[in-house]
This record gives sequence, C-alpha cells and structure tokens, in this order.
Amino acid sequence: MRYFITTFGCQMNESDTVLLGSMLQEVGHQETLDINTADLIVVNTCCIRQSAENKILGYLGNLKHYKQAIIAVCGCMMQKDGIVEKLLKSYRNIDIILGTFSTAKLPMYVEQFAATSQKIIDVAEEYAEGDLANTNVHELKIQQGQRGHSAQVSIIYGCNNYCSYCIVPYVRGRERSRQPELIMRDIRQLAKNGIKEVQLLGQNVNSYGHDLKEKMDFADLLTQVNRVEGLKRIRYMTSHPRDFSDKLIKTIASLDKVCQHFHLPLQAGSNKILSLMNRGYTREEYFDLVNKIRIFCPHSTITTDIIVGFPNETAADFADTMEMVEKIKFDMAYTFVYSPRSGTPAAQISDQVTIVEKKMRLQSLQELQNSFSLQSNTKLLGQMVTVMVEGPSKNNPNVFSGRTDGNKIVLFKPLCAPKITARGYFRPGNN
Ligand code: 5AD
Ligand code: SF4
Repeated sequence: MRYFITTFGCQMNESDTVLLGSMLQEVGHQETLDINTADLIVVNTCCIRQSAENKILGYLGNLKHYKQAIIAVCGCMMQKDGIVEKLLKSYRNIDIILGTFSTAKLPMYVEQFAATSQKIIDVAEEYAEGDLANTNVHELKIQQGQRGHSAQVSIIYGCNNYCSYCIVPYVRGRERSRQPELIMRDIRQLAKNGIKEVQLLGQNVNSYGHDLKEKMDFADLLTQVNRVEGLKRIRYMTSHPRDFSDKLIKTIASLDKVCQHFHLPLQAGSNKILSLMNRGYTREEYFDLVNKIRIFCPHSTITTDIIVGFPNETAADFADTMEMVEKIKFDMAYTFVYSPRSGTPAAQISDQVTIVEKKMRLQSLQELQNSFSLQSNTKLLGQMVTVMVEGPSKNNPNVFSGRTDGNKIVLFKPLCAPKITARGYFRPGNN
C-alpha cells in the first residue's frame, strides 16, 4: 500500500510519525507525498489546545473525499474523553482509531482492516506492546537509514507533572524512560549513518532516568551522548525549570557538543498563578535559575513558553508576567492563550478570563517580547557565527537556511551551487 501521514502538534509527534513510517515500510508499504495516490491515510493528532482539535476535526472532515483510502487516526487526541464517541458518530469515514499506547500496532491493524473491513478501535490505557516507549521501532528507523543532518531521538515518554492546565499526562500517561543502552545504540548508529545533530526528546527530558533501575540522570545521558564520534551538536526539548539541577547546568556548560540553548517554559510570572498552575517553582526561583545559567553559560540563549489568561489571572498577575519578561529579556518566546482542557483541574475553575481580555494580554505580551527578540538578534549583527545548514530556505531556493548553536535561524547565500548527496547533505561543489 502507499501511505500518507499528516502530523499535528509537537516534536514528539513528529518523531512518532517517523517511527510509524518505519513500521509501515518494514512490512512492505511505501510512502507517498501525494494524498490523492494514498491507499492508507494516517493522521497523527494533538489536543494541547482547542485550536489544535478544531483544526484536526476540519482536516478529518475533508478526508471524506478520499474514499479509496483506509483512514487511520492516532495520537494524543484519541486518548481524550469523548473523542472516540464523537468520531464514531460524526466521522464515519474513519476506519482505525488508535490511542497513544497502541500506536505501534498500526501495521497489524491495517492488515486486519484490509482483510475484514471491520472498524478497529484500540484506545487501551495500559503500557503494552503498542507503546512506542517499549518497542524496537527506534532501531528499525535507524537501520532504514535516516536522511538529513539531524535526527530526533525520544528518550522519555509521558509526563508526571500534572500542571493544572495541561492534558498531556492524561493522554500520554506516566513517564517511561527508555533504556540508556538502547538510546546510546541508536545515537551511535545515527552518527555512523552520517547524522550530525541529535535532538533528545521528551515532555520533560530532565526527569529522565528517575524510573530506571540503574542510577542515571539526564546530565549523565548527555555526557555519554557527547562522547559519540561524528556528532557535532546535541539539542534537547523540553525541560522543566523545577528539575533543572546545578549538576545539569554545569554538565551542559562543560560539554562541547551540547547547544547552549535553554528552553525553559516560564508559563506565568505571578506566584499566585504559578501555584494555581502547579508548576512547582516561584518567580524568584525561576529568576535565580536564569541567572545561574547566564553565569555558567554566558553565551547561551534562553527561550520560553508563556500562557496568558489562566483562570483567575488578574491585571496585576499579568503585569507580573510582563515584568518577568522585561527583567529576563528572553531571546524568543512561544506565547499562548489559555485553552481550557476538559478533565484538567484548571478547567473546573469558574473564574475564567474573557476571550477579549486574553487576546489583549497576548498582544501586549507579544509586542514586548518582539522588542527583546529583535534586541537579541541585533546583537549578532556583523558577527561570524557557525550554523548547521538545514537546506534551501522555504521561500527562496537560492538562499540557504541554517541554525546557530543558540537555535537562531540564519539565511545566507552559498558561495557556490550546493549539491544534495545520497545521504541528504548539502555540499558546495561537485562531491
Ligand atoms: N492552554 C494553552 N497553552 C497550553 N500549553 C499547554 N497546555 C495549554 C493549555 N491548556 C502550552 C504550555 C506548554 C506548551 C507546549 O503549550 O505553554 O509549555
Ligand atoms: Fe504539560 Fe506540565 Fe507535563 Fe509540560 S510539564 S507536558 S506543561 S503537564
């Protein structure tokens, strides 16, 4: 069969999509980039905010035009209360529904559906053989020879934090660290295949290892990855400010391949809201952490996530967030309007901020942050920086796009025409 996969959501989902593709290829299916020619359409979903769910429901509605294809839907949204019922009632064109603990069973279910034409639903909430955290598909992906300069490697699945606004712990389950020897085996093989950068992924990478028999934490894992020959850069996503130990900061400062980019979701600047969010740190502790990072890693960039309009957020609470942004001067921030997620504690709080107020706060925050993002970029004017080239820029194939160690995108004109080699590298000249 020819399969076509669409991915919504975060890097974990992108990484899972690569694994899904590997599993399908392993049993003889081939990828098509043209949905019109697909015999199997897979949609990997997200439910972090209502806007993601709305987009996905619109997308699924449009799939009714592809009557020739088997339609399979998987990922976080399938695990959310009420969604399966909704899909069964209003999206009858969907043939296979898989939850996040059943993802690895997709090839088996495709075969079963092709033979029986009976709808398949598996949203079991248990860690079984369908859980990507336990499967050997990570190795499979690598054996198939991943192309490009960079590869994502999931190191921990799930989240134990239960931030009061967040649906992730409910749809992705509790933390499961992958075995360090399997992660290292994968990364060594990736480096042998020519991959120059790995991104270690998890909902909360710095709680890596707490559930392993062996005494091992994220700093120890980074130290091991740093030794892998051939690798040039190591990135990781996402870290929780509460779990960012001194040991981890010092380790990152001392390892030459680990990028000096810290993504530390602040979420809110008021202690009252941080406590309601169940974030486990105060604004003072967060500020101390940033200062420590800037002392040990003076050339680092610091980026963040911020939510505006959390229930009970007053104008004074929002002013605290603005003050933190003003004080810290992040290099970049992802900013979000709070979106109530049913089943989470925050959705039960009655004093929700109006949508008009949320949007006004978002705009003020973005205007303030934009001025600091510009300041951060302006600092690099006239400087020579090392970039990892990612390929031609989306808008102009004569211009190339790369990233600095601090994760800033740099567009540049190569001195001579670059070529794409068999492994997907872009090299100038004829080699
Ligand atoms: N509403 C708005 N933003 C959210 N995030 C997580 N849950 C919600 C929600 N219910 C944001 C957080 C997180 C990022 C990935 O998404 O800022 O860090
Ligand atoms: Fe959600 Fe908090 Fe876990 Fe991040 S740390 S995935 S925001 S519960």
